[in-house]
This record gives sequence, structure tokens and C-alpha cells, in this order.
Amino acid sequence: MAFRYRRGLKTDEEINEAIDEILSQMTLEEKSGQLCQSVGAEIVAIGSTKIHEDIDELIRAGRIGSMIQVDEPKTMARRIRRYQRLAVEESRLGIPLIFAQDVIHGYETVFPIPLAWSCSFNMDLIRKAVEISGQEAGRCGISMAFSPMLDIARDPRWGRVSEGAGEDPHLGSEIAKAQVEGFNDAGLLCCLKHFVGYGAAEGGRDYNTTEITDTSLYNTYLKPFKAGIDAGAGAVMSAFNCLNGIPMTANRHMLKDILRDMLGFKGIVITDYSAVMELMQHCVAADEREAALKAFDAGVDIEMTDSYFRQYLPQMVRDGVVPQDALDESVRRVLYAKYRLGLMDDPYRFIREDEIDSFIFCADNRRISRELAEESIVLLENDGALPLTDRRLSVALVGPFSDSTDLCGCWQFSHRREETVTIRQGLEEEGFSVTAVPGTDVFDEVDIPSAVSAARQSDVVIVALGESSVISGEACSRQSVTIPDAQLRLLDAVVAEGKPVVLVALSGRPLVLTDVRNKVNALVAAFAPGSEGGRAIARIISGAVNPSGHLSMSFPYSVGQIPVHYDELPTGRPYVPSSGEHFQSRYLDGPNAPLYPFGYGLSYSSFRLKEFEIDGHVAKGDVVKVSVTVENVSDVAGKTLVQLYVRDTVASISRPVKELRGFRKVSLAPHESLTLDFELSEQELGFFLPDGTWTVEDGDFDVSIGFSSDDGCLSTRTFHYGA
Ligand code: NOJ
Repeated sequence: MAFRYRRGLKTDEEINEAIDEILSQMTLEEKSGQLCQSVGAEIVAIGSTKIHEDIDELIRAGRIGSMIQVDEPKTMARRIRRYQRLAVEESRLGIPLIFAQDVIHGYETVFPIPLAWSCSFNMDLIRKAVEISGQEAGRCGISMAFSPMLDIARDPRWGRVSEGAGEDPHLGSEIAKAQVEGFNDAGLLCCLKHFVGYGAAEGGRDYNTTEITDTSLYNTYLKPFKAGIDAGAGAVMSAFNCLNGIPMTANRHMLKDILRDMLGFKGIVITDYSAVMELMQHCVAADEREAALKAFDAGVDIEMTDSYFRQYLPQMVRDGVVPQDALDESVRRVLYAKYRLGLMDDPYRFIREDEIDSFIFCADNRRISRELAEESIVLLENDGALPLTDRRLSVALVGPFSDSTDLCGCWQFSHRREETVTIRQGLEEEGFSVTAVPGTDVFDEVDIPSAVSAARQSDVVIVALGESSVISGEACSRQSVTIPDAQLRLLDAVVAEGKPVVLVALSGRPLVLTDVRNKVNALVAAFAPGSEGGRAIARIISGAVNPSGHLSMSFPYSVGQIPVHYDELPTGRPYVPSSGEHFQSRYLDGPNAPLYPFGYGLSYSSFRLKEFEIDGHVAKGDVVKVSVTVENVSDVAGKTLVQLYVRDTVASISRPVKELRGFRKVSLAPHESLTLDFELSEQELGFFLPDGTWTVEDGDFDVSIGFSSDDGCLSTRTFHYGA
């Protein structure tokens, strides 16, 4: 008969008292069990080292506190119910398990990859998408999501740029908040990852070490984590990478001084997959026991998939190596999360088998996926070829993604992938007569002549090229971030037919599109748009939807420029092309600017800034008020993204040439004008010094407003702040 812990508790005080009671009943083995997250036996085959462990017995013995689960919805729900029953009814204390999964951009309904949805700049839709993802996964028993991924990334060679919100800390923070709120709305425990700096992997090679300056750490990499913590995230995952030579899993300074003390995080710290074991690979622990000790001492609460805490912590407490209080604190955090998730009241509350058929992948969820995809797609070039409003045009659709369901990108386990709407289906729904001939697969030619012949017989050619879902995401770093060669040969062959060509680029990362953009009449970056991807792309092409996505990450001119991002620091020798001066900060063989900068995106409408007002002098502590009027100067209704950047013109340390500090996505009817008010508080003007102190310095600030981070698209005013 299981121990009866207290239920129906509301306040932290009540919960903490109840946890005290539970802790007083627990053995050291049971306590360390709560800190152990296991993979279920059914997925052991994909790489766990614990193949021979008897999961059922470990659960009965209270030696597992949470589990990772991935499977087809009903199968998973059944299995989770069974494991939960073992924990609740057959273990001594009856403490329920948390079930976790990587719910990154959807569950069965797949939304665009996060890199794509960040281009929507639409926080409401992102929050809704995350809520739906959490609700779908939740109905199958998942109570914890390993999401959102908040790694700022400036290197598209790194495959995991797909999972994050791009290069900008301000946008990243807004999206972090939206995602945490979405998971909170769904009632799931979410986990900010990867703490911290994982996106700065040297050379873009996954898992590689990082070199991050203190100012970048504080001002760039930590910022989205702060936003996620403030929004109420209950867990943080330590990253795989080393920082200052110390793997994050054993980095006491980062996990304690920074995460707990500076950022105020009170929830659970969990390692990444097998990262305690990897302390031995990093060569900072000689054996399993030392790895466990270093990770626990650094501030890790839960080990993901390792079993070293389970094996070594009890004895280390008995030996006085690990203080009993420290163990209790970690267990308290886990039990607190279980209370807050409602699992202590109803361990089965997440499992809703009866709602799986009606809710998961339902029409409403897919509609949100389509809307988000439509807002995420970025129109990069258009000489007027788009939109294709004349439905009598015959369309040749070529390329490996012409009629492919591989539009969902990395990190999704959907069993409805085959129901992904293809581009062909989408175009046919829009009323076009389409001849779809792939011509190549992702890396190899299949039948380019047939694709060319389809192009010859059509009025317009749509070419769908790029990356498949398996070449972006974790462990998918690439040295050349281009469209693979076979596909480029296909493009050249169809372009030679002389028909208007629209290139739809599918990818999990920014691609180098420098050569191809001049060959085509229109270029659309669709990333991996999700379950409704083909429909969203077709509606953009037909003009049913006016494109409104803006890049959240620069598209480089060449790989040699990487890392390239808009918020760079000035140099002592800025490049002034007209000066003829040799000793300037520039490349001899290519431009400094990326091909397409952060914030860039075209529309079928044209917009302009009409008025821009700002106070010339603002007293310290006062809010800076900015007012700007934007006008749709075209006959086409559309949405645009008004972006506000700030520059501290002279400061005690070199500050970026501009930093995004506000944005507003607005819908404007033909010739409509709208006045937008922005407010900048000290929060938007200050910065962290290298020692981690926050400062707001008096002086002149530039405020630039426009439709892209490119200087040519911005209007700038200066105000004086403080004395
Ligand atoms: C490794 C990845 O780095 C992390 O993001 C993920 O949550 C875990 N594996 C669990 O799948």
C-alpha cells in the first residue's frame, strides 16, 4: 500500500510542508531516484546505455523520478498509464512520475520549425502553436517538454539553428516568453535549453566547445533565459558545451552564481542526454562517481538518461561527501514540480485517451499551423513574377520537394507526417494545373530531362529545392550551407528554358543563395513549414496570402562571412567604400553585409514611414516615447513589420551598431496609415559590463526605425538621455 502524501494543496507553504513530510519518509535511494530520468524500455534501442535495466523494477523501487517517452499517441498514452500505475500503486511511497518529450514545434500537428516561426514576429500565433503542441502531447500523458530552445545562433553551419529563434536576443526573449506562456497555458512543465552558449559552437560543429566573451554572455546569450525564467519556466537544461573549459553540466559558476543567483531561477536543473557520462569524455571526470559528484555539486538536480546519481549519490551522502541538505533541496524541487503539475492530486490527469482522436491533428490545430506557416514564409526576391494570380497558367513544379511530405523539419515525431500537405496539393487546391516532376532527390539527379520538358511545356516554373529534414537539427552541422549540387544543376537546366522561375527554398537554416537569386524571378524562403506547409506556400504564391515574414537570422553572402549578424560592434577602422582606404575592416573578395540581413522580408504591398517623432532630451529614469506613422502606399492589403533599433553612440564599452528594441507587426488596408507608439525604458537602453553589472549611461542614443536592420531601410533620430 502506497504512502499517502497530502493532496489538494494550493499555497507554496502547504506544498513545502507536505514535501517535508515526504522527505522524512524517503530513503537515500528513493531520494536519488527522484533525480534520475530514464528512457522507457521501448526506446532503449535508439541509444540508451541502460538496455539491461529492468525499468518496471526500478519504478517499483522508487528509483526513477521521470521518464522520456516517444511513440504513437495511443500506444504512448497506454504505456505512460501503465508506468504511472507502477509508480503510484506499486512503489512504497507512490510518488508519480513526470513524462517528458522534445515537444519542439508541435506534437502530431507539426508547426513550422522555430527558426521559421520566429520570422513571423507574431507572438500570439507562436504562443498558440506552443499551447496546442503542449495540449496534444499532454493528452497522451506528456507532462514535461524539453522546450523552448533559447540558444542564440549566428552560425548557420550549426544544424540546430532550426530549433531556435535566430540571432537576436531581443526577439529571442520575446519568443521565449511567448513559448513559456504557451506551455504554461497547456499546463506542462517546460524546460529552457541549452544553458548556456550551446549555439556558439566553434566552427558551427555541434557539441563543440565555445568561446564567449563576458559581455556577449550577459548581453546576448543569457537574455532569452532571463525572459523565460521571468515568464515562469519550471526547468532549465544544462548544455553539452564547454565554456571557459568547463562543461556546462559541471559548471558551478554558470549553474549556481549565474542561473540561480543572478537570474533568480528556482526550478529544476536537468542535464542534457547522457551529459553526466560525457564529463568523462570531456576529460574532467576520471570515473562515473566523480562525474556524478561534479554534476551534482555544480547544481544539477536531474540526470537525463544516466544512472550515476542513482548509483553513487546515496553512498556519497553517507560518506559526507554530498550534504544531505543539498540532496533534499534537489528532491524538493522535483516534488514541488510534481505538485504544481497536479500529478500529486491526479497522477493520470494528463492522459486523455478519449480525446486523442478528436483533438490531436484536428482541423483547428492544423489551421493554426497553416496560419503560422503563412506568416513565417519570407519573400526574398520578386521582380513581379509573384503573386501568380492567373489560375489559367500552367505550372511546372520541379525539385525534390515538389510533391514531398518532407516539409516538417527536424525534431518532430509526428505519426501524421504522411498527411503533410505537399506543395503540389496546395497549388492544385489554389486552382492551378500542375505538372510535378522532381528531377532530383536531395543529393542526386533522378531525371532532370523530364523536369526540363515539363518546364518547356508550362507557362511558369516553380522550383522547390533545399534541405531535407534529416540534414538540419541535432548533429547535422554542414560546411557548405548551400543547396546541394544536383539540385543546382536542375535549377540551371530549367532556368535555361526561359520561363519565369519561382524558387521556393526549403531549409532548416539560412542558406547561401548568392548565385541562385540572380537566376530566378522570385525567391521564397519557406524553411520547414510543417504539416500544412504546401498549402501555406501555395497561398503565398497565388496571392491568397500576402507574405509578411521577416528574417530572424541573416542569410550570409558566403560561408566565409560566418558568423554574420546585424548587431555587430563597430571597429576602429570602419569600412567606407568611397574612401579608397586600404586599412579598413572588410573582405577583399566579398561584401561585409550578408546577402539578406536580419529583419528583411518583402511583401506584395509597399510600405513607407511617414512621420517619426521622438523627444530630443529625456531625463534619466524617464521613458523615451517614440511615435511613428507607417503607410501602405500600395493597392494591396498587407502586413508589415515595423522595427525599432537603438544605438548607444558613445559608452564606456563598445556597444553594437544597432540593437532591436521593439517591433510591431501591423495589418494595413490599401493606402491606410497607422501611428504606432513605442516606449523605451532603461531596460532597453542599458547593458551589462564585463563583470556582470548592469549600467545605463547618460549620453546620445540613436533610434532607427524601418522595415529591416539594413541601414538603407532605416530612418534615424537622436535623443539625449540623462544629464
Ligand atoms: C539532446 C538534445 O540536445 C536536447 O535538446 C534534447 O532535449 C535531448 N537530447 C532529449 O531528447
